[in-house]
Formats: sequence, C-alpha cells, structure tokens
Amino acid sequence: MIGNLNHIAIVVPDLAAASEVYRSTLGADVSDPKDLPDHGVTTVFVNLPNTKIELLHPYGENSPIAKFLERNKDGGMHHICYEVVDIIAARDKLKAEGARVLGDGEPKIGAHGKPVLFLHPKDFCGTLVEIEQV
Ligand code: CO
Repeated sequence: MIGNLNHIAIVVPDLAAASEVYRSTLGADVSDPKDLPDHGVTTVFVNLPNTKIELLHPYGENSPIAKFLERNKDGGMHHICYEVVDIIAARDKLKAEGARVLGDGEPKIGAHGKPVLFLHPKDFCGTLVEIEQV
C-alpha cells in the first residue's frame, strides 16, 4: 500500500545551524527557511536525490512540535512520511487492521498542500508515521 518515502522530518533547536550542517558538513542541497503559520512550523527542505529531509522548528504560540523540542533539546527525528495513492482507502485499511489514526481521522492539508494523516507511533514500531496522498 505505501509507496515512496516522501520525507523524514527532524525537529531542530536552531534552523540556521541545522541548515549549515546539512549544507556544509553533509554537502546537501538545502532550501531557505519557510514559515508555515497554519502548521505552526518553520521548515527547511533538504533535497536528496531520492527523498527529502525536512528540518522543522516551532513557529508561533501553539506549535505542535513545541513539546517535542522541550523533551528533545538537541532535536531529533519526529516522523517519517510515506506516499499513498488514495488516502481514504489507506485510512480505511489501516483502521480495519487496528491501527490508530490521530485526530478526527479526516485528512488535513499538509505542509505540501496535499492531504495527510498521522498514525499512532505505538502501532508503527515507535515511530510517528505520516501518510500523504500524491
Ligand atoms: Co511531514
């Protein structure tokens, strides 16, 4: 059911420092930061040949990643995102398999303007999973 790995998201305490690590130390193609107020994050995209790394930093008062950064002061891997062709069909299959879909279970428009859902980490090897319809 899942297709390509769309991105891995890493929450970082300092976007400029993290961008520099990826740009200079790792020699990657790194975007400028972009604020996404609706999502409560500022993002930097690291464009790799086969996928993307998203560096995330809290934006605004009620950022969904603020608590994560409090618990992980050096930052850390936040979620992985797999592509699916049909997010409703994927959701219904996951629910039928007993997996927990976070929130109200209805897809939201994610950071890339495409429908996304998040799945409970306890059901997926301790990793928060995002599925995105592409
Ligand atoms: Co994501």
